[in-house]
Formats: sequence, structure tokens, C-alpha cells
Amino acid sequence: MSHGPQGWLLSLAILLLALSAQSSQARLSNENHVKTAVFLSPKFVLGPGSVVNKLYYDIDFPRGHIAIKGFNAEVVDEAGNPVPLHETYLHHWVLERYYQREGVEIPKDNNYSVFQQSDVILVRNSGICDRALFQYYGLGSETRKTDTHVPDPYGIEVGDPAEIPAGFEEKWRLNVHAIDTRGAEDRLGCTECRCDLYNVTNDEQGQPLGPDYIGGLRCCYDETQCRVRKGFVSAKRSLYMRYTVKWAAWDSCIVPVKIYIFDVTDTWKRLDGSRNLSTGHNCLVEYVVEACDTGVASKGCFDTKRVSLSLPTGGDVVYGVAHQHTGGIGSALYGEDGRVICSSIPTYGEGNKAGNEAGYIVGMSTCYPRPGSVKIYDGETLVLESNYSSAQRHTGVMGLFYILVAESSQ
Ligand SMILES: *[C@@H]1O[C@H](CO)[C@@H](O)[C@H](O)[C@H]1NC(C)=O
Ligand SMILES: *[C@@H]1O[C@H](CO)[C@@H](O)[C@H](O)[C@H]1NC(C)=O
Ligand SMILES: *[C@@H]1O[C@H](CO)[C@@H](O)[C@H](O)[C@H]1NC(C)=O
Ligand SMILES: *[C@@H]1O[C@H](CO)[C@@H](O)[C@H](O)[C@H]1NC(C)=O
Repeated sequence: MSHGPQGWLLSLAILLLALSAQSSQARLSNENHVKTAVFLSPKFVLGPGSVVNKLYYDIDFPRGHIAIKGFNAEVVDEAGNPVPLHETYLHHWVLERYYQREGVEIPKDNNYSVFQQSDVILVRNSGICDRALFQYYGLGSETRKTDTHVPDPYGIEVGDPAEIPAGFEEKWRLNVHAIDTRGAEDRLGCTECRCDLYNVTNDEQGQPLGPDYIGGLRCCYDETQCRVRKGFVSAKRSLYMRYTVKWAAWDSCIVPVKIYIFDVTDTWKRLDGSRNLSTGHNCLVEYVVEACDTGVASKGCFDTKRVSLSLPTGGDVVYGVAHQHTGGIGSALYGEDGRVICSSIPTYGEGNKAGNEAGYIVGMSTCYPRPGSVKIYDGETLVLESNYSSAQRHTGVMGLFYILVAESSQ
């Protein structure tokens, strides 16, 4: 392809537009001391059936000692239009906090390997998985209709200069995993990362997956390709994550909250005696829901998965929400006495437009207990429950539960 002078000028104009859109805050407002800013991630490109799983370092984010009051995100095209899930399925996005050594350059676009491990210190949430789910926020297809605001007087405290190690700066990174299902032969199968549809038998590191691994993240890594209908043609397109951050300057009136993420696949077992409640949490993150035996199921086909977990120190529950994939029908966190700490139920879309796509989870209900009314006790055994429809098999599903907890008011 050859560019005439006009072609180059046009390219330059588009580049400048993209740069200005990327680095500036599209909107900034200030209501009751809560500020709102909207940013764009770096651009990513998807064609029919293709996958991106990118980790963007040093994303635009409010700086300084602040209380985060909310975070949400969605996929938009170059004109800023929201892209519906049946075109670009947002498998997940994850926001992580880290400290970066001053003077070290980390490319803002995706690269997992170019920096020295010691130049980046991940600052994880308060638990409870040992090696996974370190995020401050993270959602998937439900992102457009899931409330994430942190109610007053609470806030997620970040950027406290007293906590940042000397020679480091606090930064944020964003993982975006999206699947273009335009023209897909099996749209649900692509979103559930079924290995046969991706023709993947080894994971991203080249390790053989084995015949028992039929679907999940290890089959839909960055730049994999899901099967599309023969002869289907459609253009590649450039997309962005548009994310909205709400925050307030830190103030001694704000009550800090801890972030905990529970996973129904956690293999942790409470042992008798003085076993440390903070360790031994092996979270697998994904699981498979097998199709029910229709001959046996008389009252419908449901899959219930439960796990017992415990927090070393409890407190007042301020917010709760579950994360489930297609097929999910609800999740709840129960106390030791069986009381419901929070129940979170998916909303399925019914139409075609972004935010209401039929067949997709477009929102999860949330819990905002009256301050002080729902407590978790120190060392209390909790039960996390995740229900799915098993009318058909689902691979790579999740059963996560995210809660915000404040030190007890008593
Ligand atoms: C990251 O950088 C390394 C070293 O420069 C390179 O070998 C690798 O291909 C890059 N990976 C990606 C995903 O760009
Ligand atoms: C699937 O992968 C195998 C082995 O990597 C390759 O030989 C085959 O051509 C691939 N099939 C398709 C449809 O891409
Ligand atoms: C439990 O383990 C965590 C993580 O290894 C550690 O930080 C904490 O100090 C331990 N607590 C006790 C009581 O040993
Ligand atoms: C999950 O399903 C069980 C029945 O297996 C039911 O008792 C429970 O209420 C359901 N929980 C939620 C949160 O929907």
C-alpha cells in the first residue's frame, strides 16, 4: 500500500486525535468533593474471532493521597461509541496498584517481561487468595450495569506518601481481556474459551494442557483466534477501554475500607488448632459446570458450588458484589450462623444495544448494608455459594465475591 502526501497527512491527523484523546481527561467534574475523571486505555485492535489479553502499565489515574469512591469501565470504538458484548465480549478487566522504581521506563503497551521484577512491587488488596486476584477492582461483561461506588463516609485509601517505599512511585496497571465474536461459529463457546474452538492444545508458555482441560483462560490467551464461520469477513477495528474513576482528596473524616476477594474454587481448609487463617488459600479462579443428566433432573438443572472461608479480622461490611459468567444465576456469602451477609444476582440483557445484550450478564446486584448493620466476626467461618444453570456445559466460569470491610464501629 502506498501513501500519497494526503494519506500521510490524514494518518498524522488521526494519530494526533488519538494521542489527544488518550492522554487527556475527557471529562472532569466535582460534586460534593467527589471528583470524576474519564480516561482511555491504550488502543487495542481486534478482528473477527481474535483475542487480546493486555497488561497496560502506568495508566492514567488520579495521583496523590486520595480515597477511591468508584471505578467503572467499558469498551468503546474510535468514535467513542460503546461496543456491544456480542461484538466485543469483555471477558474481564482488572485494575491493580503497584509501586514502580523511579527512573525506570516500562512501556505503556503490553509487555509482561521487559522490566526487572524488582522494579515493580505489586500492592495487593487485603486478601484472601495467595497467588491470584490481587486487584482493587475487576469486572467483566457486567461492567456497564454494576454499581461500584463506595458510600460515605468510606473510601479506599491509596497514595499515602508514608506507605510508598523510598525511590518508588505509586502507579496503576490495567489488564484487559476481550474477545471479538463477530462471525463466531459458536459465540458462547468463544466467550467460554473452549479449547477446541481456539485449536489450542498448549498454553501460552507452550505447556501441554492435557485432555481434561477443555476450556478456560489458558486457551484464549493474547492473540489466539476463535473459529469464525466460513467466508465471514469483517474489518479489524481499534478499540479502547474507557474507564471512569471517582475519588476524593484524603481526609481524616473518611473511614478506610479493606478489599477482600473470595473465590468459590479456593481449596483452603480450616484445620484444627492454630493454623494461620491468612495462608493456604489456593484459588483456581475458574471452574467447569457440567451439563446435568436430563433424565434425572426433575426440578431443572442447577449447579451449586460452596466453599468455607475465614477472615482473620472481621468488621463492618460496606459493599458486596459477586462476579459470575454466562449461566450464573446468583451467588451469596453467608455467616457462620447462616445469615446472609450479601446476595448478588445477575441481570441478563434482553436486547441488542450495548448495556442490554440478550444472553449476556449485563449487571450484578450489589449490597450496601446500613453502616454497622452487617458484621463479620474475627475468625468467623463464612460460606460462599455460587449457582449456575447446568442446562448445558459451561467452561471457564467464575464464582468470585468482592467485599469492602471497615473496622468495626461497635
Ligand atoms: C516483550 O519484550 C521482550 C524483550 O524485548 C520480547 O522478547 C517479547 O516478545 C515482548 N513481548 C510482547 C508480548 O510484546
Ligand atoms: C490446528 O492446530 C494444528 C496443530 O497446531 C494445525 O496443524 C492445524 O492446521 C490447526 N487447524 C486449524 C483449523 O487452524
Ligand atoms: C499469617 O501469614 C501471613 C502471610 O504469610 C503473615 O503476614 C502473618 O504475619 C501470619 N500471621 C500469624 C499470626 O502468624
Ligand atoms: C443457590 O441454590 C441453592 C439450591 O441448590 C439455594 O438454596 C440457594 O438459595 C441459591 N443461592 C442463591 C444465592 O441464589
